[in-house]
Amino acid sequence: GTFVVLASGRGSNFQAILDRVSDGYIPAVCTALITDNPLAHAIERARAAGIPGEVVSFKSFSDKQAYETALIATIQKYNPDLVVLAGYMRILGSEIVRKYSGRMVNIHPSLLPSFTGLHAQEQAVNYGVKVAGCTVHFVTEDMDAGPVIIQRTVPVFENDDGDILSDRILVEEHKAFPQAIRLFFQGRLTIEGRVVKIDTNQA
Ligand code: GRF
Repeated sequence: GTFVVLASGRGSNFQAILDRVSDGYIPAVCTALITDNPLAHAIERARAAGIPGEVVSFKSFSDKQAYETALIATIQKYNPDLVVLAGYMRILGSEIVRKYSGRMVNIHPSLLPSFTGLHAQEQAVNYGVKVAGCTVHFVTEDMDAGPVIIQRTVPVFENDDGDILSDRILVEEHKAFPQAIRLFFQGRLTIEGRVVKIDTNQA
């Protein structure tokens, strides 16, 4: 199977995923990195891995619809089995989300449904939760609300700030995302209503 990754920035999740493709843990191939940010470090990571980097810059389109059309065309060029959103900072329109329903996943740095949207880690610190974490979920039209595939937790300590907690969660993200993508390509994920069932029968 093949997948494309959409990323807007640093790309550490993208890198973690590539590393797990390299060691065979993810039984699939990443065929392109697609970004809306020409300066995304993820582009360097794609180049180092010999993977095409496609820049679909929001600014070079007259409106959101034109941008979405170009983005869909770019994704479809690779005809992926799965679209992976790894730190992609734009809201995708309903057309693309519907087209990839059940085949598009995202990672969010909180235990959804808590702390949706931006700065989730800082939201958690400010709320005073004692446990935080990350969620890998299927993407639906409602932001950060799709069926949950994997969640991993971390403790929150009294001297934490958003950055300290973000770093602690990121370590878990780099485990959760590859695991979710592996399960997808093993065909072990089924969605029943809004609940994802993981087939544990396989080895
Ligand atoms: C991660 O914390 C992810 O949960 C959030 O944005 C960040 C992306 O980091 N969506 P990176 O680009 O993968 O390093």
